Amino acid sequence: MRVRRRSVAAGTLGLVLLASGCGGGGGGADQVEVFSWWTGGGEEAGLEALIERFEEDNPGVEFVNAAVAGGSGTNAQAVLEGRLQSQDPPDSFQGHAGAELQDYIEAGYLQPLDDFYDEQGLREALPDQLIEQISYEGEVYSVPVNIHRSNVLWFNPSLLEEAGVEAPPETLDELVEALEAVAEETDAIPMAVGAQWTVSHLLESVLLGSLGPDAYNGLWEPGADWGTPEVAEALETFEVILDHTQEESAAEDWQEASRRVADGEAAFNIMGDWAAGYFDEVGALPGEDYDWVASPGTDGTYMWLSDSFTLPVGAPNEEAALSWLELVAGREGQDVFNPLKGSIPAREDADPAHYADSPYLESALAEWQAGPELAGSFWHGVTVGNRWKNDVDTAVGLYLGDGDLEAFNDALHEAARSE
Ligand code: BGC
Repeated sequence: MRVRRRSVAAGTLGLVLLASGCGGGGGGADQVEVFSWWTGGGEEAGLEALIERFEEDNPGVEFVNAAVAGGSGTNAQAVLEGRLQSQDPPDSFQGHAGAELQDYIEAGYLQPLDDFYDEQGLREALPDQLIEQISYEGEVYSVPVNIHRSNVLWFNPSLLEEAGVEAPPETLDELVEALEAVAEETDAIPMAVGAQWTVSHLLESVLLGSLGPDAYNGLWEPGADWGTPEVAEALETFEVILDHTQEESAAEDWQEASRRVADGEAAFNIMGDWAAGYFDEVGALPGEDYDWVASPGTDGTYMWLSDSFTLPVGAPNEEAALSWLELVAGREGQDVFNPLKGSIPAREDADPAHYADSPYLESALAEWQAGPELAGSFWHGVTVGNRWKNDVDTAVGLYLGDGDLEAFNDALHEAARSE
């Protein structure tokens, strides 16, 4: 794990607030404010189910849903950072396991949860590798509710047939051929994208598919060399794929891009498996309206990420926040939430029967339990913290504007070197 300097100012202030009892840390438990970015199709339903359960279990505690709209938390994370910096934390917030969470820990924003882990038996219930991603200097700092998969290629079976594509593409070369066939033979968009973050999301699957898991993971080591012919080749492929996406997508979020696949407006979309929750919610039928495979070149690798919830320093309603964390941590809470969310449980003892109604989730759970090769999602906080991630996003934005692939590659190289 990279060790960065802890922000003394934020850490010290947190201690002062706790010691003085000001600004929270155990106050009255008549409400709990939970911050996330689950507002859209597929995401809200899972949160709503948890809220309902929380209210049943905690009568008299008002649930304040502080979700901020915007896929992958692009807006929410900016709002959250402002609140944390001005010592106005919610009682609990969503943070991705991995480097993103390390940022919050090192800034002194989070309370360790070791006693809670012991009380709830969480060290036995969660995979060791996951606990590692939410730990810092031997203490554990958040409660993972799920495992999501980033590298999924969703496709419309009828459009593939119309384009004469006999089987879903297994390699990036096959993907490019399929995109060309869709462009020639149909009126559909070959590859749907949405707002800029969905292009960064696409980038990670293309890098993984082109380079393989070891080289992909190595790209996110501080100082990694992005100036290699292999990276250049992966970026050339990325460019060809982007040439087959639709225009004017900037205002659309991921749901719109996924919807296009299920509605037969687009042949493909590379999106995380929250799309499975969305497809279910809108009544799209697996095998008919949509189908899926691992994104090309990544079969056997689970590009994972995990949503986790925290206990901020100075949480105004700490007792209620711990009740929320108890729900999120528990087997029942995870099994209520994840089938709606399109994710599999973080706990190893969850009941597979809850996932059997969804062909996607059933296969995802089986694959996860079989111990796949792992790659960490950069965009969703596993491999890099917010500084590096934002540098990549800025580079993607410039590239979408000027189309200068070499400058894009240089900017990615610089972003790695700055760490
Ligand atoms: C989160 C998911 C969410 C997705 C789209 C990801 O970063 O981990 O929970 O569904 O973004 O908003």
